[in-house]
Amino acid sequence: MNRNPTTGDIAVVLGTRPEIIKLAPVVQELGGRARVVHTGQHWDENMSGQFLRDLTPIGGIEVLSGLGGLSRPRQIAGGIDQLSALFERRRPRAVIVQGDTNSTSIGAQTANYLGIPVIHVEAGLRSRDRDMPEELNRLIVGAVADVHCAATPYNAANLLAEGVDAERIHITGNTVVEATRRVLESSTEHVPLPVDGPFVLATIHRPENTDDSGALSRIFSALAAMPYPVVFVAHPRTLAAADRFGLEGMMERLHVLQSVGHAEFLGLAGRAALVISDSGGVQEEVTVIKKPLLVVRKSTERPEAIGAGFAELVRPGDSIEAAAERMLGDAGLTVRLRQTPSPYGDGSASRMIADIARRVADRG
Ligand code: UD1
Ligand code: UDP
Repeated sequence: MNRNPTTGDIAVVLGTRPEIIKLAPVVQELGGRARVVHTGQHWDENMSGQFLRDLTPIGGIEVLSGLGGLSRPRQIAGGIDQLSALFERRRPRAVIVQGDTNSTSIGAQTANYLGIPVIHVEAGLRSRDRDMPEELNRLIVGAVADVHCAATPYNAANLLAEGVDAERIHITGNTVVEATRRVLESSTEHVPLPVDGPFVLATIHRPENTDDSGALSRIFSALAAMPYPVVFVAHPRTLAAADRFGLEGMMERLHVLQSVGHAEFLGLAGRAALVISDSGGVQEEVTVIKKPLLVVRKSTERPEAIGAGFAELVRPGDSIEAAAERMLGDAGLTVRLRQTPSPYGDGSASRMIADIARRVADRG
């Protein structure tokens, strides 16, 4: 029984590494009003547990069960079923979801079907690539959200073009800016480097790169051909794919680490000569830590990092080696990037989002 009606009345639903990282500052801003529900989509200590330790909501964390590793329909349907039961037992006054994962979809759909207002953080991203599960999640969450917290004017324009009322869109910036700054302030200098001298940091986990043996082996070959040693921080999806396709041998020329903590990752990224990744969050973080990035994907929903000069898109068929050579050979790049502000905001997104959520919840 919740005796104080404003304690834990704003549910924050999350389930994957990037959602935990990016919603942590929102949970902190909400204080006692935050009620955190974890779907269990990511369940390993190094994909979830170590990031949850930075979240200390007063009411603890409620966790759904048995959803990790399921197929999309089973994960989303099972998640809606379990979350509905949780919210029917204790109904939140608003629900916050972030990004474009299956967990985002579970949280947004459940709340909407129960008539609870949905606040979507990082709203309005569009890759226009319907083969990406994330793009479908974005479209579905965009359709059921009541309030859209767009990180950038470009994201807001996407929503306006789809007919979303302007008064339901707020341009807040992206919470990744403050999440990154907090880690940097607490120091990443202690992070040990697995190699001596200049190195390239790489992460790969998108289905378009991991679920096709040819695509994955082309990426491994390109990484092995870099002029510097490559530290490859491996996502479990990628490790499973390399094992399935018999490509582990190709990883032997890379310095492979299992998924690391956020401070460790930013410590590596901050000292890398170049980052190569298909991650969404990393595209944003390089604009805060001022590092050059090659985005290895067909398309991106985050053109701002490219527009600002931090990132370059390397599509299938384009040469990763040639793009890396260009970026590493650009003598003025580091200085230019240091002087370029992040297009993802000034670090006040989570405060704005928490204010919006409290207003929505208090409207009843
Ligand atoms: C999910 C999100 C993706 C996000 C990524 C962040 C969807 C559709 N995709 O992709 O948008 O960029 O999280 O990292 O929601 N696994 C483990 N242990 C874990 C988690 C995953 O072993 O703790 C392995 C399992 O083999 C699992 C696979 O990784 O089947 C994929 O996990 P899943 O959550 O389905 O998708 P991600 O690729 O992590
Ligand atoms: N990250 C991390 N450890 C790692 C790899 C990434 O802490 O080993 C962080 C990274 O700094 C970023 C987030 O995880 O904040 C990105 O998550 P991911 O690439 O899994 O998902 P995406 O952003 O693509 O949805």
